[in-house]
Amino acid sequence: MKKLNKKVTMVLVITLMILSAFTGCGTNQSNDTADNLPTIGIVQIIEHTSLNMIRESIVAQLEADGFTDGETVHIDYQNAQGDQNNLKTICQQFTSKNYDLIVAIATPSAQVALGETTEIPIVFSAVTDPIAAGLVTTMQQPGGNITGTSDAVSPEQIMELAKQITPDFKNIGVLYNSGETNSISVINNLKEYADKNNINVLEAPVMNGSEVQQAAASLVDKADVVFAPIDNTIASAMPIITQTLNEAKIPFYVSADSMVMDGGLATYGINYEILGAKTGEMVTAILNGSAPGSIDVETMSDMNIYINTDTAKKIGVTIPESIMKKATIFTDADSSQNQ
Ligand code: TRP
Repeated sequence: MKKLNKKVTMVLVITLMILSAFTGCGTNQSNDTADNLPTIGIVQIIEHTSLNMIRESIVAQLEADGFTDGETVHIDYQNAQGDQNNLKTICQQFTSKNYDLIVAIATPSAQVALGETTEIPIVFSAVTDPIAAGLVTTMQQPGGNITGTSDAVSPEQIMELAKQITPDFKNIGVLYNSGETNSISVINNLKEYADKNNINVLEAPVMNGSEVQQAAASLVDKADVVFAPIDNTIASAMPIITQTLNEAKIPFYVSADSMVMDGGLATYGINYEILGAKTGEMVTAILNGSAPGSIDVETMSDMNIYINTDTAKKIGVTIPESIMKKATIFTDADSSQNQ
């Protein structure tokens, strides 16, 4: 009897050991998959044209570098649908599964990811102001577990472009989400510019997407032109805004190429495909052994003018020939959001 008990116990112990090896419980494995491929978690705050484009460009660069999803790497992509609670849950899952690397697309995702882990490497993408967002304290070799790319733009340059297209505006309405650090930092720069140039800034802040339509409508009788920073909430609600502003024939100056594709009148901005590729290169370097903190945060220097000629027609604005010559032209057909 005693002997049998011992045997049963032995079998049980061995079975448990085998089971735990398969499930990963009690072992130090770096992800939750059965193979030994590295796992990358991609977290995106919301769906909009630009963030989708950035994500696709990151994944394409990884593939070009030999990291193909399902073959040489696992990619777990999650979208928070604009909800901070979802962001937290996603980042907690990534860290509890001990993923090898987290790619955080846009400022809110990066802030939440860094709040969850100071160990797992984080590569952020398209963060307008990584220092103001509290992600890094310096752009050169930031140290710690984080680096990434910035899509900083200059509101001064966008305003200079606006002056050439629609001169003599006095009142500029500003649409943004007051919870997005990326927007606050651009708006502070805009206010400095406005002060120097005798322009009134009329702020129309929102807390979430459901408030956007009313905010746009509130500007109609007061603003000569409207401006939006690189704001995720505004970018995801472009059709609603452009409907209101186009009807009122108010020029809408934006901060990203995708926002011009989706009906904004014009911007002077960066190329997000290149930014996505740069982000992908950083991920590759880290998977190949570099420390995240040893990689400089990169900003994009390649800027272009973007114009939507359908919007110009709708609001009766003629774009000067000198600008048309230099600009990348979009029409409504380029929008991926339903107009
Ligand atoms: N820069 C934004 C951020 O820091 C993210 C972003 C990238 C974005 N491309 C955009 C926002 C285009 C609006 C439109 O969160």
